[in-house]
Amino acid sequence: MSTMESLIGLVNRIQRACTVLGDHGGGESMSLWEALPSVAVVGGQSSGKSSVLESVVGRDFLPRGSGIVTRRPLVLQLHKIEEGRSDYAEFLHQPRKKWTDFAAVRKEIQDETDRITGKTKAISNIPIQLSIYSPNVVNLTLIDLPGLTKVAVGNYSTMNRHCSDGIILLTSTEGQQESIVQDIENMVRSYVEKPNSIILAISPANQDIATSDAIKLAREVDPSGERTFGVLTKLDLMDKGTNALDVLEGRSYRLQHPWVGIVNRSQADINKNVDMIVARRKEREYFETSPEYGHLASKMGAEYLAKLLSKHLETVIRQRIPSIIALINKTIDELNAELDRIGRPIAVDSGAQLYTILELCRAFDRVFKEHLD
Ligand code: GDP
Ligand code: NA
Ligand code: MG
Repeated sequence: MSTMESLIGLVNRIQRACTVLGDHGGGESMSLWEALPSVAVVGGQSSGKSSVLESVVGRDFLPRGSGIVTRRPLVLQLHKIEEGRSDYAEFLHQPRKKWTDFAAVRKEIQDETDRITGKTKAISNIPIQLSIYSPNVVNLTLIDLPGLTKVAVGNYSTMNRHCSDGIILLTSTEGQQESIVQDIENMVRSYVEKPNSIILAISPANQDIATSDAIKLAREVDPSGERTFGVLTKLDLMDKGTNALDVLEGRSYRLQHPWVGIVNRSQADINKNVDMIVARRKEREYFETSPEYGHLASKMGAEYLAKLLSKHLETVIRQRIPSIIALINKTIDELNAELDRIGRPIAVDSGAQLYTILELCRAFDRVFKEHLD
């Protein structure tokens, strides 16, 4: 690695700038934010999305509970820092504060969700942006989305069962509006249908893959499977005498990228506060000593998944550099025209803001060009 900033770090900075300053450019065509690749996490409720994200980060920091916990997209930017330094987090909405207590990070995600949605349990497509700095991460941007669901209810009773077609029935005592099911699907779809979106499709191994919400959606928006990474969780919960080799070896549902199997912490582990780094080690041991999956051990687990995604994201960004530069230049032209229209020198606030974006675009343009070889 040269002195150049990592490409993923660079794209992270543009994404943050677009969020703070407004997403300029694009008009009818694609905007800069949309042109930047990122990894969207999709799956049914309780498929293990939060667990996978926490394992990739190596920290416990996501809100949990029953029902629809994730009600705003969480844009999670991971930054690798030097070995020996300690982990910290930053929220974009509180840029000057460094968080070292990850239980407080969890609480802030909840509070910030409520700040936009009220306590109404509504969902919103306005993302929360969180950066985590740690020696235990790879450079990567992940977007956590609400879980796909067939039936959404508020405080549901304990009666739930699996039907033969895989639909989970929950009886409602205090219902959320029926439309939330469709709202969630629409929001998740709006993220994964963009051609720049990399889909992390999460399915639990103890359910039939044919009924997976994640695979259903991925198949619809990415039929060739070129931007979908299939992740199979809960391998440890499969019935005795069965295994997931047909899925993991690509026979059940073929994707262009290899499937990755995962063993997250069980609910009992979570209750016992099993440390994430310990959980990663236990997962590695699970695969290394497994009679069924031993031959795949080096390509399984959350740490391997993180590296695979980081490498892929970097490759995709590299391929897109020319079109990203073109979009940046188009944005520069539009901003110049806008500034000409409102007149220079800039005295008013909106002009100053446009000028800041313009300066940023110029800087990004220079740095991106360094990456062209
Ligand atoms: P989400 O709703 O998709 O975010 O799912 P969570 O990550 O919250 O997981 C739901 C429940 O399944 C939790 O109790 C987890 O402990 C449990 N779980 C998730 N993945 C695994 C796994 O690989 N093995 C086991 N045993 N439990 C898991
Ligand atoms: Na879920
Ligand atoms: Mg979750």
